[in-house]
Amino acid sequence: MPVVTFANTKGGAGKTTAVLVMASELASRGNRVTILDADQHGWLARWALRSPRFPQLSVHSVTDETIEAATLRAKKRGGYILIDLPPARDAVLARAIGLADHVIIPVQGCAMDAQGGAEVLDLLADLDRSCGIRIGHSVLLTRVNAAIPTRALTAAREALAARGVRMMQTSLTERAAYRDVFDHGGLLHNLEPADVSNLGKAIENAAQLTGELLTLMPQRMPRPQARKVTGEIDQPANAAPVRKLARAA
Ligand SMILES: Nc1ncnc2c1ncn2[C@@H]1O[C@H](COP(=O)(O)OP(=O)(O)OP(=O)(O)O)[C@@H](O)[C@H]1O
Ligand SMILES: [Mg+2]
Repeated sequence: MPVVTFANTKGGAGKTTAVLVMASELASRGNRVTILDADQHGWLARWALRSPRFPQLSVHSVTDETIEAATLRAKKRGGYILIDLPPARDAVLARAIGLADHVIIPVQGCAMDAQGGAEVLDLLADLDRSCGIRIGHSVLLTRVNAAIPTRALTAAREALAARGVRMMQTSLTERAAYRDVFDHGGLLHNLEPADVSNLGKAIENAAQLTGELLTLMPQRMPRPQARKVTGEIDQPANAAPVRKLARAA
């Protein structure tokens, strides 16, 4: 039941997109996936409302007060737990990092994002120094132009590598499909290839990224049962009210 937390204190770094892309691929492979949405804006909770219902995939809105109990419940259900965070250095960030088996730090190829990522890295270093708690973490470059690595992207890579930061070898490329899946709901595999440019490449990137993520997880997961997922997005009674959240928005 690995917990993967996606953190960057800078807004727009690509946290929510990375969570959805990897959740989509994991669910498409037949894994149970729980998304804990700690962002008050509830983007993933809203995505769930737009989506068909899948038995293996659930989205729960959480706060700093409920995230630990929600993680325990998700661990009982099994599968992968992905935590999406707001762009802030706050209590929920600290808790979500403490709960994580691995922290993914999405960073766009610009200095501001690298700065937001650095705050998360500092927090992880503090935990190690003060409490002896070492949590695996990797920087994920996001919104990368599939064709040409830009100068800013190269600079960000160099700045992070100079700090001894572990980088994911696969980047999340800039793809229309990753925006469309929010608007349409459902999984990447449910999008219509005729309606979305380069959908195949987006799915390929998602698969490669998820494959790399799995190599970073504790090796105790049962094998997935099936490739395709159908059914409903599970919103149990004890989950924070996703529908209420969407109405309030
Ligand atoms: N790989 C990508 N391809 C295309 N668009 C992307 C990609 N990654 C992010 N975006 C777009 O960039 C914007 C910001 O991304 P996202 O919401 O994932 O960032 P975030 O870190 O979750 O932001 P916040 O901190 O505000 O929650 C969104 O409009 C999203 O659709
Ligand atoms: Mg977000």
